[in-house]
This record gives sequence, structure tokens and C-alpha cells, in this order.
Amino acid sequence: MSGKPPTIREVASRAGVSVATASNVINGKVSVSDASRRAVLAAVAALGYSPNRAARSLRGAASRLVGMVVPDITNVFFAGLVRGVEEQAERSGYDLLLVSSNENIATERRRIEALISRRIDGLLVVPVRDDSLRPPREGAHAGHLPPTVLIDRGDEAPGLDVVAADCCSGAYAATRHLIDLGHRDIVVLAHSIGLNNIQARIAGYRRALEEADLAKRARICVGGHVLDALRGSVEQELRRADPPTAIFALTNGSALAAIKAARGLGLEIPGEVSIVGFDDFDWMSALRPYLTTVAQPIEEFATCSWRLLMERINGEVGPEGRRIELPCTLRVRESSGIARVQPRAVADAAN
Ligand code: RIB
Repeated sequence: MSGKPPTIREVASRAGVSVATASNVINGKVSVSDASRRAVLAAVAALGYSPNRAARSLRGAASRLVGMVVPDITNVFFAGLVRGVEEQAERSGYDLLLVSSNENIATERRRIEALISRRIDGLLVVPVRDDSLRPPREGAHAGHLPPTVLIDRGDEAPGLDVVAADCCSGAYAATRHLIDLGHRDIVVLAHSIGLNNIQARIAGYRRALEEADLAKRARICVGGHVLDALRGSVEQELRRADPPTAIFALTNGSALAAIKAARGLGLEIPGEVSIVGFDDFDWMSALRPYLTTVAQPIEEFATCSWRLLMERINGEVGPEGRRIELPCTLRVRESSGIARVQPRAVADAAN
């Protein structure tokens, strides 16, 4: 090794392509065949080629950096999403700058500005609110942002794409499943009802109840973001004289709270109360009874949002915002059963 940093010419030679092609792959300005892209990225990795990003970005060239903002990096849903996006970034020769907004709108704005100051080429955001990044006025272009794709939450706008799950259909399938098991009193448990994706899940629940002529039996329990408060709110439902025979928890956190509440009251799952969740993670099929839940397509969220973002970065699409909704999957396991008995009157079981 000469000791000098490898040059773009050496990368091109090792990859068996022209210097122009190698430069196009590294700068991402022009689309290149997959074979050439793979050969150049392999040569970059083998030679340890690392162009001076700061210098290039100051010249207006691509920085090969993508910023990503999620509301809570400790939440398994967002952690899984980040892992999928990182795999896409690695494959495309980009680095990912990850920050958390901690479900706080002011923090989200500050972190996005900080990412933009680092001359990122593109931005992926799970917004704190659906309107977090909406342009200043209806129909305006999101020109204040770099190429941006929202994931899981948010509203599309000119220059702003959204990749989300078809939450309504997923929740409808879960509720239908419980109704088909004979449940007539199904309570929904949510942290809050301010997000469109939670509203969509409630809409799917209501549609299934209406179809079964149970619309008047709808019960929505909202418990906030703290696990113990969430558990306490659904525990009150289970202590009622007319307790629900099933709980439909609308997020992974709500499912955990519902399980803790039922266990704390000594109720059998699913014998005395059935539980269905939303989101699917390893812990949900680690302890018996394995949780019946609606799985969101996290892997497809990552691949689809990355594809849309690359198309925006490479100028391959027009300004109109695109919305892609991906199907969820109901995974029936052990925590949902026939509504055999109304739960026994819950004694004051020690928590
Ligand atoms: O807390 C994670 C949940 O909220 C997931 O269901 C995801 O949709 C997010 O919006």
C-alpha cells in the first residue's frame, strides 16, 4: 500500500469501470447499472476509499449521508425500522445519521435542523405529529426540507412522500377474529388517539363492530405513554361489573400493559380475557400464551421508503407527494380464544 489514500482512479481500475462511472456511483448523481454499482462499492470497501465528504459537500456534491429521525429509539418498533433502513443505506453506499425526537415536536425540529446543517442528501422521519413537516401552507412544496420521506405516520404533500401501513384493514381483521370467537365486549387500548394511524386502527375496529351490529358496544380506553398508567387504565375496565371479554391493544406498548393488567388481576389469558396486539416482536412469541397480534411490514417500510428517497435524491420523480400503504398481517397465536365465560368478578387481587 502506497500509504497515500486511494484515488477514484484506483477504485475505477479495481472495479473495471471508467472513472466517470465510479464517480457517478460515489456521487449518486446519475443512476448506474446494479452490476457497476456493486463493483464500485466493493472496490471502495476493499481499498478503504473515503472521499473527503466535507470538501465534496461544500462543493455541492452529494454527501452520501441520510438523516433519520424516530420518536423513541428504545421502542422495538422504531429500532426494527432503523435496522432495516441501515441495511438499505449500507447496500447503497450511504451512511445514516440517526437521531431521536423523544416524541417532542420542538426536539424534532431542532434535530432536523442539525441534520440539514450537516448537508444530508435526504431525510427519513417518523414524525411526532402527522402535521410535523407539513409545508407552511396548503399545497405548498416542502422546499424547506431536503428530499424527504415520512414513515409510519404523517400526511403527504408536494415534495413529501409517506410510506405507512394499512392500519384500518389490519385492525378490522383483528376485531373480526375476536367477534368470530364470540366476543361481544371488546375494549380497545391506546396510548393516545392523536395520530392518524391510531385513528385508522380505531376505524377498522368500529367497522368490524358495525358489521356485526355491535357498534354500540365500542369501548375505547386511552392510558397515556407511561406503561403503569396504561396498565391501570385497562385494569379499571377489567374490574367493571360488565368487564370486556377481550382487549385489542393498538401498539406494542399497549399490548404489554394489557398483559400486565390481566396477569396482575389473576385472569387467565385467553380463558377469561383474550388479548390481541398491534406490532409483532420476538417477546410476543417467547412467553406463553404467545400473543395474537397484527404485524406491520417493517422490512417493507424500510425498502420502500429507501427506494422513494433515492428516487427523490436522484431527481427521478416530480414534486407531487406519494403515499404508499402496505398491508399488515394478522398472526393468530394463543392469547385469543373463544369467549367462553365472562371474566369472574375480579377480587381485589394484590397487584
Ligand atoms: O409505539 C409504536 C407504535 O406507534 C407502532 O404501532 C407504530 O405504528 C407507531 O406509530
